[in-house]
Amino acid sequence: MSQRVLTTESGAPVADNQNSATAGAGGPILVQDQHLIEKLARFNRERIPERVVHARGSGAYGYFEVTDDVSGFTRADFLSEVGRRTETFIRFSTVADSLGGADAVRDPRGFALKFYTNEGNYDLVGNNTPVFFIKDPVKFPDFIHSQKRDPFTGRQEPDNVWDFWAHSPEATHQVTWLMGDRGIPASYRHMNGYGSHTYQWTNAEGEAFFVKYHFKTNQGVRSLSAEQAAEQVGKDANSHQTDLLQAIERGVNPSWTLHVQLMPAADAADYRFNPFDVTKVWPHADFPLRRVGRLVLDRNPDNVFAEVEQAAFSPNNFVPGIGPSPDKMLQGRLFAYADAQRYRLGINHTQLPVNAPKAAEADNYGRDGLHATRHGSRHDKNYEPNSYAGPAQTGAALASPLAVHGWTGTHEAPLHTKDDDFFQAGELYRLMSADEKDRLIANIAGGLSQVTRDDVIEKNLAHFHAADADYGKRVEEAVRALRED
Ligand code: HEM
Repeated sequence: MSQRVLTTESGAPVADNQNSATAGAGGPILVQDQHLIEKLARFNRERIPERVVHARGSGAYGYFEVTDDVSGFTRADFLSEVGRRTETFIRFSTVADSLGGADAVRDPRGFALKFYTNEGNYDLVGNNTPVFFIKDPVKFPDFIHSQKRDPFTGRQEPDNVWDFWAHSPEATHQVTWLMGDRGIPASYRHMNGYGSHTYQWTNAEGEAFFVKYHFKTNQGVRSLSAEQAAEQVGKDANSHQTDLLQAIERGVNPSWTLHVQLMPAADAADYRFNPFDVTKVWPHADFPLRRVGRLVLDRNPDNVFAEVEQAAFSPNNFVPGIGPSPDKMLQGRLFAYADAQRYRLGINHTQLPVNAPKAAEADNYGRDGLHATRHGSRHDKNYEPNSYAGPAQTGAALASPLAVHGWTGTHEAPLHTKDDDFFQAGELYRLMSADEKDRLIANIAGGLSQVTRDDVIEKNLAHFHAADADYGKRVEEAVRALRED
């Protein structure tokens, strides 16, 4: 094999990569040393802003295969026939800590999936939790500030974490979930994924359905106790990344089975609670799981920075037959992601290989900007409409229109009068085994007892009492016992 030649960025051969050019053997360095200056300058620019949330993550390629007919519910082409395979890219992540954090921590996990469909990329940006802490996007920056490192102490502060929850009764369900056994997955392979929000499917006849996605792990759900996790972090801060990479390298390809819950759109108005509230699940008794297909991960990225760090998922990337629901949180997210990516990666991040459509082609009149690589032929016009056979609109909406009515304003009241923030937290508590309840109480008390203000503790206790009398009593006793120590 012939020796490859080291070159500058412009391709010129480099004579010496060990000694800088100097004036005399011991003299100062010369500005004319193009290789040195280029090398130092490029190094200074290696880091880009990390994601403001979900900074730490791992990615893998794979495919989604339809196993069951759902063509009566959505006209999405990639779901249109049994056996159809679509290439996918997934990024798993933790939420609160920065890039330098650890994997085995108590935190929700991101489950962000990109389907490279022949009708464009479809992004389903979910978590490993079926619900979320808040239900209005205006609270999101405050929520995240309370969970990330404190600006003064530089670490996550129990005072901030629990103070926010004290003022957010709607978080009680997700807090119960997070403090329970599933709060620390053993690995990315051993957890479920959820779309969490309600989305909309539209079939070929224009009928609309509301839909929730559930990806069930075929590896089985496995979790770590707080003690096991602390040990794991000490041994290997990258334990989830290592596990995923090595499993795929060994050919042990992880897979998930996708199920959906479906609600005819017309039924939403009369449902007993707001079906667009992301702090609540839809009971399976009302909306049974229906199997759709399986997701298989079979290829590691070649370059973590290029493909995982630069990956950009947006809940607003839909394909025909799939669209948003009126869920307020989802509506906020439809804006937030692409906006974050324009800042983090630049306007042309959609042209990076991991983000560009693979089975479809992006063809529009957007042009130029920093780092543009896509350009048409010299005969293409850059305006529309035109008389030169440039790309034109289809006139067909992706999903069916939804009727809305009411007054504009900042409405506090939920849509449905029977909504309350606690009943599903209570149901989740009562579902747990005696051992699970013991660990849940210990985890909550371990955090809440570190809070310095009594009023913040009392407000949080009131939420657990409202969820379930036994739950509230036990958390209260455990917190008091720890504070008296
Ligand atoms: C209004 C509420 C929310 C806002 C404003 C928001 C905003 C963001 C932003 C700005 C990012 C970084 C995007 C990037 O730089 O590429 C992000 C990442 C992410 N968010 Fe959210 N988020 C919200 C709620 C949620 C919810 C409810 C879920 C799950 C159901 C979720 C799942 C994720 C995931 C998985 C990522 C990481 C995506 C990746 O791997 O690149 N977020 N979020």
